[in-house]
Amino acid sequence: MPTVYVNDKPVDIGTQRLNCVQAAELAGVMVPHYCYHPALTVVASCRMCLVEVGELKDGKVTMQPKVLPGCQTPVKDGSVIVTGDYVKKDKSVPALAYDPAYKPGVRAKGAQADTLEGLLLNHPLDCPVCDKAGECKLQDYSYEFGRSESRMVDSKNQPPNKPGISSKITLFTDRCIMCTRCVRFTREISGTAELTVTNRGHHSEIDVFPGHPLENKLAGNVVDLCPVGALGSKDFLYTQRVWYMKDVDGVCSLCSTGCSIHVDVNKDRVYRLRARENPDAQGYFMCDDGRYGYHFASAADRIARPQVKAGDAVKNAAWHEVLPTLKADIEAAAKKDAKGVVAVLSPFLTVEEAFLFATYFKGLSKDVRLVLGPVPVIGQDDKYPKDVKGNAVEPTKFTIRAEKCPNRRGVEAVLKQFQGSVIPFADVAAKAGSLAALVFVGGYPNKEAVEAAVGSGWTAPALLVVQDLFPTALTAAAKYVLPATASFEKDGTFVNHAGLAQTFPRATLPPKEARSELQIAFDLLGRRGLVQAAAIRKEVAKAIAAFAHLAEEKAPKAGKRLELQTI
Ligand code: SF4
Ligand code: SF4
Ligand code: FES
Repeated sequence: MPTVYVNDKPVDIGTQRLNCVQAAELAGVMVPHYCYHPALTVVASCRMCLVEVGELKDGKVTMQPKVLPGCQTPVKDGSVIVTGDYVKKDKSVPALAYDPAYKPGVRAKGAQADTLEGLLLNHPLDCPVCDKAGECKLQDYSYEFGRSESRMVDSKNQPPNKPGISSKITLFTDRCIMCTRCVRFTREISGTAELTVTNRGHHSEIDVFPGHPLENKLAGNVVDLCPVGALGSKDFLYTQRVWYMKDVDGVCSLCSTGCSIHVDVNKDRVYRLRARENPDAQGYFMCDDGRYGYHFASAADRIARPQVKAGDAVKNAAWHEVLPTLKADIEAAAKKDAKGVVAVLSPFLTVEEAFLFATYFKGLSKDVRLVLGPVPVIGQDDKYPKDVKGNAVEPTKFTIRAEKCPNRRGVEAVLKQFQGSVIPFADVAAKAGSLAALVFVGGYPNKEAVEAAVGSGWTAPALLVVQDLFPTALTAAAKYVLPATASFEKDGTFVNHAGLAQTFPRATLPPKEARSELQIAFDLLGRRGLVQAAAIRKEVAKAIAAFAHLAEEKAPKAGKRLELQTI
């Protein structure tokens, strides 16, 4: 078994090709680093990861005389890594047979402190007004590995800030530690290469080429990648201190890639979305459509409360008034003409919501038809990196999908279970005028998707019930209009384009008078008790074989790939 020793602790690395930072991580030891990122090439420029390296052979340890950058030093069977934190090592692990003159960790610790002193020479130390404070690696490492006082007596470089490098990102030039992660991202992942390093030595600065601002669809990732507060998101700048926010694991709902995200919230408001690493979903990054696409949840024209149409007048109504009459109307229509009743379940619903609605409608009569809501598709899959002409270059490192919804595959699996086939919305949209009832359960963040699917020559059925986020041609013709919830406002499961099922918790409450789709389905079914997505998930797992994994008490953070039939 290939074994590496990290602060004396043996760790089996198997067949993996690792550097010292990664091997130490396997052993539970954190080696501080700035420029290293697993998705980018290694440049070993920041020198924060310096470690002592040696080899164990025949029971004897030979250490190299100088510290080495851990990110650039590969390990093999018998490698010995000693970090600056050696004194904090697990005392129950016996020390290796070092030379008696060797003091483990002393050189690495001194080198880390020296590196930080160098990085701070020109740093403005404006933590109190810096957006990154609280999640800044320069703060954290200075506290843990740095010196408490500066010996700098000369005046600092004060290059001007560059708010013009991008419409969405600003550069606080003097905070930059020149790790070049941002530059490498635009060269290696987006391929657009807008960022570069200008000048030399202490006068090095990040900049864009004249007339070529940082405007690619993945640009926001450089803010996440920046280990300090040099790159700031204009969308988030000065809106929140990070320690006030709660970080909730979420899944982006704006395309079928289904990126794993961090949803940063405070007092039921989303302030920021960041990519959450998930090799099974999208990797390390997310796109700007998703990153800045959360504002729809707080848009002023969002449907906020139930409305009922009486004649030409539309009036707001309370749930306790609306639900009984709505239920009675649907059930009367199903009794009279079950084949003429259609329930449209949108690909923005969670698996649990689609399952409960399908249970209700098929419970009225097996002849009620379940239809997949409009699936918005815009253009073609957008692949990165790109070359200078904007053509995708292999190997693909990130894809923004043309299918702009999160759960078509999950909803299709539910529909298939209940009626053996998936009926597309286009099949009923043209004949809607002849239906007894159409219940449209939407939740579309983008109302154009609904308008386009409905078309202009559309006629409303006898009874039209629409639940959605925004007013559309459908809501204008509906007898009952119900508010819907955004993905941040519910918990449930989305299945992405590749069949990866990701379960996520609720991050914020919906607007005051909106009710979750699960609650509405619960009410329609006449169920009593607390509405819990986890409990419904267990029902789904029992009823649909492909979802059997969802019964697990604690869903894996990275999600679970399902064996779903392609429909
Ligand atoms: S701006 Fe941030 S990511 Fe870019 S080189 Fe400077 S510190 Fe690194
Ligand atoms: S690629 Fe798709 S899922 Fe990922 S952030 Fe962008 S819109 Fe959201
Ligand atoms: S992380 Fe190794 S030198 Fe920067």
